[in-house]
Amino acid sequence: MSQQYGVIGHPIEQSLSPLIHSGWMKEHGLDAQYRAIDVAPGSFDTVLENLTQDGARGLNITAPHKQAALAAATHLSETAKRIGAANTLIRRGDDWYAENTDAPGFQHTLAAANIVAAGRRFALIGAGGAARGVVHALTQAGASVQIFNRTPSKAAALAADFPGVTSAAEVFDGQITTADGFDALINTASFGFEGARLVLPAGEGRLFYDISYGAAADPALKSARDTGWKAMDGLAMLVAQAAYSFEHWFGIFPDTTTALAKCRAAVETRT
Ligand code: ATR
Repeated sequence: MSQQYGVIGHPIEQSLSPLIHSGWMKEHGLDAQYRAIDVAPGSFDTVLENLTQDGARGLNITAPHKQAALAAATHLSETAKRIGAANTLIRRGDDWYAENTDAPGFQHTLAAANIVAAGRRFALIGAGGAARGVVHALTQAGASVQIFNRTPSKAAALAADFPGVTSAAEVFDGQITTADGFDALINTASFGFEGARLVLPAGEGRLFYDISYGAAADPALKSARDTGWKAMDGLAMLVAQAAYSFEHWFGIFPDTTTALAKCRAAVETRT
């Protein structure tokens, strides 16, 4: 039987991970299968147990199970521990190893876009799980970060965990009035739903990076482009984090360019 891999999340039907990983498995002639597994909140441990019994060798984990995945693993990487979430599980012997490839995936996309983070100042919107991965990646790369968040206490708590990170004291209500002194702005909060609007000052060609993609990213990217920011979505980050997971499982860093083009085409047919 083929080796079993997959992505666990809820909802999961929109996931592009099967498209990405199945393509790489085929390209490298691996006898392996990758599928999307819908798991309701609270059922992660039971499902993982069943998958383990069925011989699963590797899993990607997405919302809302990234903390549960970390808790279920017997070995944790330093990155996964620091971020407090796992997006990748690797089977070694009789153990699950937890890893987080979101942070290296994010760093990879900055490098691919020729963006130097060291010594630069980033503004970051949001203070949830995704923001924590980005803060880890940016501080590792030597950048300083200021966090803007709807709930300032959550921004302050996140900032306190990382050196070189501060938080804005005021409530972020969808509007940033001045971006003076920032080299780039990263958005981890969704403005695609609930009618929320993002209002930005003039970008003057600086980077606006929304880590989501498709309908979730479109309104924020439009606001950014309209105000002169160089807008980038999170599709390359999705592919890069997948590539690091694939490397953990198979020891091969796969081709991200073709995978990204396939994902771009898939997202465009949806909208
Ligand atoms: P994720 O794992 O994607 O980061 P999360 O942990 O639920 O998801 O965090 C979402 C972040 O986006 C939070 O910082 C949230 O603000 P609060 O801390 O105040 O909840 C922020 N967010 C979500 N919707 C938002 C909106 N419409 N306007 C501003 N911020 C929003």
